[in-house]
Amino acid sequence: MKATIATIPGDGIGPEVMGPATEALDAIGDRYGHTFNYVELLAGGCAIDATGEPLPGETLEAVRQCDALLLGAVGGPKWETLPGHLRPERALLGLRAGLGVFANLRPAALLPQLRSACPLKDEVLIASNHEGKPSFDLLIVRELTGGIYFGDRGRSADGSSAWDTETYSRAEIERVLRTGFEAALLRRKKLCVVDKANVLESSRLWREAAQELAKEYPAIETGYLYVDNAAMQLVRAPGQFDVIVTSNLFGDILSDEASVLTGSIGMLASASLGSPAGGGRRAAMYEPIHGSAPDIAGQDLANPLASVLSAAMLLRYSFALEREAAALEAAVNSVLDQGFRTRDIAGLGSGGPERVVGTRAMADAVIKAVEDGAQ
Ligand code: IPM
Ligand code: MG
Repeated sequence: MKATIATIPGDGIGPEVMGPATEALDAIGDRYGHTFNYVELLAGGCAIDATGEPLPGETLEAVRQCDALLLGAVGGPKWETLPGHLRPERALLGLRAGLGVFANLRPAALLPQLRSACPLKDEVLIASNHEGKPSFDLLIVRELTGGIYFGDRGRSADGSSAWDTETYSRAEIERVLRTGFEAALLRRKKLCVVDKANVLESSRLWREAAQELAKEYPAIETGYLYVDNAAMQLVRAPGQFDVIVTSNLFGDILSDEASVLTGSIGMLASASLGSPAGGGRRAAMYEPIHGSAPDIAGQDLANPLASVLSAAMLLRYSFALEREAAALEAAVNSVLDQGFRTRDIAGLGSGGPERVVGTRAMADAVIKAVEDGAQ
């Protein structure tokens, strides 16, 4: 197949981790006979510097013309003092809203090679794991274009009070719940709906919608947790979770919590998906969940694996290239097995000898593993 992929390298380590992702895609393309073309676009702090806006209109327009978007990271101290509507983060919110990518998939799994990066004890992991292993493998499906992030907000005339509003329509809730149910069907068939239905009216609507929809998915074991309890369960017994589906704000918080459990934010990928449009491609944006890490930018220290794994999600969710996605994931697994470690995941004492390498050498190792046919 042929596809055109928009890339937004962004700020900080964004450009350094974007290179490895597109090179990895090209290596997969060579191995399986696909051609990927890239259209590089500006957003974030570098776009503010170049155009005065975090998300130039041409960028959004150009992304819409492409089959998928791969993003590095945006933001940095240089732009932190700008007013809210001019901060680099606006680029992310503008892309999410502008592309209508309402379902944010954030997988968090504990890799055996990085076991000791997880701060939890073996017995905590084993107790709740479906196979009795010291491990977990969960997917957070976060609503991404609604709720308090996009609700009515403001300040009173005298500035002495402020408000942000959690608003959800039933349709917004149902479409992301559906993504959760469908994801669970492809995994271990467990869905946990996280809300605050004991207090919030919007959460009560989430729960009602979920209870209705659950009838359409009898194969799924659907459970419900209040968000405070869910936050606790994640560190008490993460192995109990398969798919978690929740609102924008709760998902933001819980996904950061889950990332700490994997011990390696430099490894975590994400996909943000719109509706599967009739016939056409669904809008989709893929990005590592780590930020722009300005403190280590330009020093060949960043871990490119989250970005590479985001490219694997792109193959899977935008192009249904499951074999290719799995091959790229296998390549990442293989470099970890070979002992390659960037600094953030080094010194964990997880068995065999380690080769501590920089961004470039890690990327080269992944590409070689793809070329060598890692399965
Ligand atoms: C995330 C980030 C963003 C969010 C910020 C940077 C706006 O924390 O993607 O989780 O809150 O959604
Ligand atoms: Mg966040």
